[in-house]
Amino acid sequence: MVVPTLSIKDLTVSFGKPGRELLAVNGVTYDVQPGETLGVVGESGSGKSVTLLAALGLLPSPPARISRGSVEFQGRDLARMDAKKVRQIRGKDVGFIFQEPLTSLNPVMTIGDQIAEAIVVHDQNIGWQKARARAVELMSLVGMPDPERLAKQYPHEFSGGMRQRIVIAIAIANNPKLLIADEPTTALDVTVQAQILDVIREAQEKTGAATILVSHDLGVIAQMASKIVVMYAGRVMEAGDAEDVLENPLHPYTAALIECAPTMESELKDIHPIPGQSPSLMEMPSGCPFHPRCRYRQDVCASRVPAYRAIGSDRHVACHFVEETAEGGRLVVPAAIDA
Ligand SMILES: Nc1ncnc2c1ncn2[C@@H]1O[C@H](COP(=O)(O)OP(=O)(O)OP(=O)(O)O)[C@@H](O)[C@H]1O
Ligand SMILES: [Mg+2]
Repeated sequence: MVVPTLSIKDLTVSFGKPGRELLAVNGVTYDVQPGETLGVVGESGSGKSVTLLAALGLLPSPPARISRGSVEFQGRDLARMDAKKVRQIRGKDVGFIFQEPLTSLNPVMTIGDQIAEAIVVHDQNIGWQKARARAVELMSLVGMPDPERLAKQYPHEFSGGMRQRIVIAIAIANNPKLLIADEPTTALDVTVQAQILDVIREAQEKTGAATILVSHDLGVIAQMASKIVVMYAGRVMEAGDAEDVLENPLHPYTAALIECAPTMESELKDIHPIPGQSPSLMEMPSGCPFHPRCRYRQDVCASRVPAYRAIGSDRHVACHFVEETAEGGRLVVPAAIDA
């Protein structure tokens, strides 16, 4: 059996003082296997980032607290590991690519030295000269022209797309086992976005790393991910094979997300925004958190939280009205409320 690179089980994260806690992540379960790309989607505030930050011990505690659940990295329980070991894993075995590249870079250090430093920190025997040479190789790998010359420059001398390439070079410098890209292209324009996605794909192929790609852009996920996790209000609503889920969504929330995503072919009349807003942590609805916005809601949806359960061999869904069929599953409800 293959051991998942990262396995998150029933993870629950709260903010605030005991007794007055707000649940930002509520019983999230998912995992990613070596070499696989998992896409995590969901509206802003659904807990996509907090799940990963908490899993890797990157949230300050207090105010954040993991109140339930477990996280394993290559089969090792991160919660039971001492802080130093977790830091080591995070620095060497996990590469992070965040939305705003400038905040991940040191403004007063040359690009070449920053990449070299990432290597030297985790390999004391390599020496600066070799690390610098490797930095230039990495810059060329992420598609930077004339890397020898650019290595001597500073972050402010680069465009957003170029900076993101540098962040990717640093993220893969130590051949990570896991790459986490949290909205890596959101701050970039569309053409640069496509280039950066290519670089991430190549970086993953070169390192064989398991990759978690967080995005609220379903198009990006469809292009990049083999598996998908759909989050809403701190919970996973649906997960499965990316193509299957996008072609045949079972959860009404997934279907609604797909309906409101613009594509190249869609006209304005074809885009249907989801009515209402995602809930704030302070006013979490009872039952299924999506029920106030769901066009298929029934009485039970307001009173009981649907179990997150397997539907068929490869899908998980949290909806009272999805049932398993020979073809996989389907939504069984009397009628849409606004139909
Ligand atoms: N330090 C914090 N203190 C209190 N609440 C927080 C803190 N960080 C995040 N939250 C809350 O946790 C919830 C989940 O946030 P998270 O950043 O994971 O959302 P997200 O899905 O990544 O959204 P986005 O697409 O905007 O990045 C939100 O309601 C957010 O306001
Ligand atoms: Mg986020």
